Amino acid sequence: MKIAVIGTGYVGLVTAAGLAEFGHTVIGTDKDTAKIDLISRGSSPIYEPELDDLLKKNLAGGNLSFTSDVDAAIREAGVIFVCVGTPQDENGRADMSQIEGVARSIARNLNGYKVVVEKSTVPVKTSEWIKRVIGLYRRGDTPFDVASNPEFLREGSAVPDFLEPDRLIVGVESDRARDILVRIYEKFRDRVLVTSIDAAELIKHASNSFLALKISYINMIADLCERTDADVEQVALGMGLDPRIGRQFLKAGLGYGGSCFPKDVRALTKIGEDLGVDCGLLRETDKVNQARPGLFLDKVKKALWILKGKRIAVLGLAFKPETDDIREASSIRIVRELEREGARLRLYDPKAAGNMKEVFPPSAAVSYCKDPYEAAEEANALLVVTEWEEFRSLDLARLRELMANPIIVDGRNMFDPAAVRRLGFEYYSVGRK
Ligand code: UGA
Repeated sequence: MKIAVIGTGYVGLVTAAGLAEFGHTVIGTDKDTAKIDLISRGSSPIYEPELDDLLKKNLAGGNLSFTSDVDAAIREAGVIFVCVGTPQDENGRADMSQIEGVARSIARNLNGYKVVVEKSTVPVKTSEWIKRVIGLYRRGDTPFDVASNPEFLREGSAVPDFLEPDRLIVGVESDRARDILVRIYEKFRDRVLVTSIDAAELIKHASNSFLALKISYINMIADLCERTDADVEQVALGMGLDPRIGRQFLKAGLGYGGSCFPKDVRALTKIGEDLGVDCGLLRETDKVNQARPGLFLDKVKKALWILKGKRIAVLGLAFKPETDDIREASSIRIVRELEREGARLRLYDPKAAGNMKEVFPPSAAVSYCKDPYEAAEEANALLVVTEWEEFRSLDLARLRELMANPIIVDGRNMFDPAAVRRLGFEYYSVGRK
């Protein structure tokens, strides 16, 4: 099966390498030539565990290649995965102009039957538009099908998520397209759920929004816990033991960030508005989430009173561990506010410092440190913003020695409050007294 993957962002790159690993011949394509050159040498432009190895292995194997000639890639392939971005516009809707552009390119290069599979996260009914655009712009009446096969990759574990999926949603409207997609995922035939295209598109937005809702829900419960003697970790455990609720995504903290949940919750709210359905539940989800950095900063102010001139260590900048991605990361709002208040910040992240420097270049107020201990030197407080695993094994006694004041404000509940306090720290966390 010869497959073209259009777009070599996070989803497209993993999809291209993963489909090649399944044994298909894959051409990844992107109009960004610099990116294509880098990827063709087996180097991923994003940090994603295991991705470089997967790329190198399949490039060497000969069944994976990359080109910036999008038209040629379309002409050569029988199946086209559309993985271009759908960024948020100023109204919270998904901007579909890149998808439309790809549909027009496909129409121009439709030299035989092809299945056009959208993999990017898109609003329900997008496939209908893709079909209409290709129909309008193609020459003659060469047949084609559209399909939806949303991705469920998590940053930081995208490669194993792709290679061992828990489910594969295949939204189709013809048997021919269904058979082709089921063949692509032959190895996982028992995990394929065939649906209508509208259902497939909605499954993706509904899944992400539900997980975001779960996070905002536990964060609301954490707010309640802070006004009582309850510990949110115990409440989440007690809730999660009910298999109908489940334990995952009940981790209270600084809320969700990244390129997916915030954007998808807002996009689904807008889809509801456009379809005349009140998705107020999702507006509240977003509202609870947006409040998190402010509540965290209140704790910092409660501990330090005046922030001007205070030296503050910030551990973790990425929106979650195991990624260098800082899109919609709570660290951005926290650093911006502390800088505005006149604090002197000492930032550390194992992977995301490079990206953060583009938002906050090193200055008198913001410096980047090589490890958590350097960040903590003479600090008046230490903030935990992302729960990188390496922070769990920090030598807290050494940190205490290095710091000017032993104060930790932990936005991710990484430490056991009793143990930290025994070491002499003043400790603030989320949803725990
Ligand atoms: C998410 C989904 O989990 C994937 O299934 C989906 O494919 C992807 O979006 C996408 O649409 O592309 P991702 O954004 O990589 O994946 O990250 P998650 O691991 O889901 O975490 C999202 C955010 O929620 C992070 O900021 C994380 O810190 C936060 N989170 C997660 C919590 O605050 N509490 C939790 O209990 C779990």
